[in-house]
Amino acid sequence: MVNLNEFKTRRQKLMHTMRDGIAIIPTAPELIRNRDSHYPYRFDSYFYYLTGFKEPEAVLVLIAGVEPKSILFCRDKDVEREIWDGFRYGADAAQAEFGFDEAYSFKQLDELMPKLLANQSKLFYSLGADAVWDARVTAWLNQIKAQVRNGTSAPDEIVDVRKMLDEMRLYKSAYEIDVMRCSAKIAAGAHKRAMQKVRAGKMEYEIEAEFLHEFYRKGSQAPAYASIVAGGANACTLHYNANNAALKDGDLLLIDAGCELDGYASDITRTFPVNGQFSAAQKEVYELVLSAQAAAIAQVNPQSHWNAPHDAALDVLVQGFIDLKLCQGSKDAVLESGAYRQFYMHRTGHWLGLDVHDAGEYKDKAGAWRKLDAGMMLTVEPGCYIRPADNVPEHFWNIGIRIEDDALVTESGCEIITADAPKTVADIEALMRS
Ligand code: GLY
Ligand code: MN
Ligand code: MN
Repeated sequence: MVNLNEFKTRRQKLMHTMRDGIAIIPTAPELIRNRDSHYPYRFDSYFYYLTGFKEPEAVLVLIAGVEPKSILFCRDKDVEREIWDGFRYGADAAQAEFGFDEAYSFKQLDELMPKLLANQSKLFYSLGADAVWDARVTAWLNQIKAQVRNGTSAPDEIVDVRKMLDEMRLYKSAYEIDVMRCSAKIAAGAHKRAMQKVRAGKMEYEIEAEFLHEFYRKGSQAPAYASIVAGGANACTLHYNANNAALKDGDLLLIDAGCELDGYASDITRTFPVNGQFSAAQKEVYELVLSAQAAAIAQVNPQSHWNAPHDAALDVLVQGFIDLKLCQGSKDAVLESGAYRQFYMHRTGHWLGLDVHDAGEYKDKAGAWRKLDAGMMLTVEPGCYIRPADNVPEHFWNIGIRIEDDALVTESGCEIITADAPKTVADIEALMRS
C-alpha cells in the first residue's frame, strides 16, 4: 500500500530546507512510440517522490515560507476520455486523496503560474532537464519581468531542486525499504525460475519471457531496466540486450534483470551454467567473482566510504587474475598499470532506489568518497569478462560472469535484500537439478 503521509512529510521537509521561495516540479511527458501509440508511461522520479501521483500532465508547486503550501496541477476529470484511457483523478479528488493544500487543472497552469511566481525570492527548479519545460518556465518569468514597473519582481535566483532531493532520496525510509525488499523478492524469485527453466536449445528471449511472467504475476508494474539475458560470449558485452541467441550446452548464461515495484527498482545479476553444471574453468572464474563480491559486501557498513567495496573487490579480482594467469606481475603492478581492465572494466556498484542508477552524490563536498550510512541502498556487482585474446588461456575464452546483489546499509553492516536468489555453485547446481 502506498503511504500517502510519507509523501506529505517529504514535501514538508523540502519546503523546510527551501526556507523561502517556490519550487516547480513537473512529472515526465508521455512519449509517442509511433502515430497515436505511446511508450508505457513512467512518471518522473522526483515528482513521484514528492507526490505518489502517477498520472501524466501534472506539476507540483511548493511555496515555502511562514505558510508553506503544496499545489498540484493535474488533468481534469473527463468522463469521455476515461471511456478510452481509464480513470483519472481530476483536481478535487487528487487534492483530497493525496493531501495537497490546493489543486487546479493543468489547463490553468499558464494563467496561474506567473501569479504564483511573482515576488518570490528564489525559484527551485531543475533547469536543463527538459527543454519544453524550460521554455514554459522562462515564458512565465518573462511575463513577470514585463510587469516590473507595477512593482512586481521575478525570482532572481534559480536553484537546482534536484540537489536537495538527491540527498533526501539517498536515505531510504522504513516504507521505502519495505517496498524495495518486496521488489527484490520478486526479482530474486524470477532468477530462481530462470535457473529452473533454462535448457540448451532455448532462446535467450524465452528466458527473458520467464522474467516478465514472474514480474507481472507478482504485481511489479515493469522491468526496472532492459533485461540482459546473455548466453556464452554474449555475456562479455556489458550492455547486451538483443536477447535473441540460442543457449548452448556447456555455456554460461548471465542474466541482469530486476523489476520495478511502486516506483522502486531491484537490480540482480546471476550467472549459471545452461546445462546445470559448471565446468572446471567456469567454476574457477565464478568462485573468484563470488569471493570478490564477498569481500566487497564485507565493506558495506557505516564505517566504510563509498569506494571501499570497489577497492576490496578489485583487490581480490586482481590477485585472482594473476593466479589464473590472466594477468602477469605483482598485484600492485597490475593495479597500477590498469592491466586488470581487460577483464574488469566497470565499477562495483551504484545507488539504487526509484531509479536503477539512483540519485545521490558519490563524493562529499571536499571531493572525498562519501561515507556509507544506515538507510542507503546500493548494488554490489563485481564481474569478470574474458574475450578471446592471445594473452588469455583458451579454456577461459568467452566466459563472462557478474554477480550482483542489492544491499541496505544498516547500523551494524548491511542486509542483502536479494539473498533469495542462489549464488553459490552448490546452491545453483542443486536448484537446477531439482
Ligand atoms: N542493470 C544495470 C546495472 O547493473 O547497473
Ligand atoms: Mn547494477
Ligand atoms: Mn544490474
